[in-house]
Amino acid sequence: PLYEMAKAEKVLDHYHNPRNVGSLNDKSDNVGTGIVGAPECGDVMKLQIQINEQGIIEEAKFKTFGCGSAIASSSLATEMLKGKSVNEAFTIKNTEIVKELNLPPVKIHCSVLAEDAIKAAVEDFRKKQANKMQPQSDLV
Ligand code: FES
Ligand code: FES
Repeated sequence: PLYEMAKAEKVLDHYHNPRNVGSLNDKSDNVGTGIVGAPECGDVMKLQIQINEQGIIEEAKFKTFGCGSAIASSSLATEMLKGKSVNEAFTIKNTEIVKELNLPPVKIHCSVLAEDAIKAAVEDFRKKQANKMQPQSDLV
């Protein structure tokens, strides 16, 4: 059916023209980096977010060493992230990605990888912010 065709094309489009491939400066306090691996297949995904003064994700990048579905999932994830707050980002579910890309059961874990990468990136950002708040004892 046409509907299924459109869904398949969406995966292929994200696979052939992945959005937001690249890296952000991990040294920056405003950047959170998540790197996760899939035990099922050994694929690795790196996802980074850059947060502005208002707490909104203004930039998202990824690099994925993996299958087409993992690349498509991370590409879609970076698009979903932009404009969201970090709290909203944390609530993104892999099932949204599965639905959007119509992933088959054997490819569900590829979308889980994207959800885990988002959560890891948010946690990394939060950790950096928390560290910033702490007094630097070595400076006192
Ligand atoms: Fe082949 Fe993930 S199992 S790339
Ligand atoms: Fe393992 Fe896609 S991430 S097959």
